[in-house]
Amino acid sequence: MMSSEEELTSSTPSLPPPSAHFVGRKEDLVQAKRVTRLVGGRDVLVLCHKGQFHAMDMRCYHSGGPLQEGDIEEFDGRICIVCPWHKYKITLAEGKGLYQAVNPSATPPKPTWRSKGVKQRVHKVTEVNKNVYVTINDSLDPIDSDFYQTERYRTTMNKAQPKNKK
Ligand code: FES
Repeated sequence: MMSSEEELTSSTPSLPPPSAHFVGRKEDLVQAKRVTRLVGGRDVLVLCHKGQFHAMDMRCYHSGGPLQEGDIEEFDGRICIVCPWHKYKITLAEGKGLYQAVNPSATPPKPTWRSKGVKQRVHKVTEVNKNVYVTINDSLDPIDSDFYQTERYRTTMNKAQPKNKK
């Protein structure tokens, strides 16, 4: 699977991929830094970090937290979004969940960064003529964040939200 970084650094295509969805003008997205879009039936976060576009499922794989409100930080040389709910760290490039492990027998115990593997579905971003497109990663391999894109989850969330009284 090609990452968004690889795609953006490869030669500029003149047409978007056939299955790509337009998500905005480059200048608007750069200015906004992050936007959420419904793309191919999924809620997707598109963000621009240091001139690179990234796209991933909007709700955190852990418990559905709003990643569009997360900070971006670097851990062990990998750029991550930090979920605002429980501070899980997710790499922008691959959607991997990072955590710190400590070897208790080491003296002094020294924490090291490890990966839980791909937990958040990331999508491909393509830039064509100053327009930005997202192609949904439709790999059939299940990824944890998929659950928060289901109708079952949306229905549960809608029921849980208080209705506005007039
Ligand atoms: S919901 Fe994101 S860390 Fe818990």
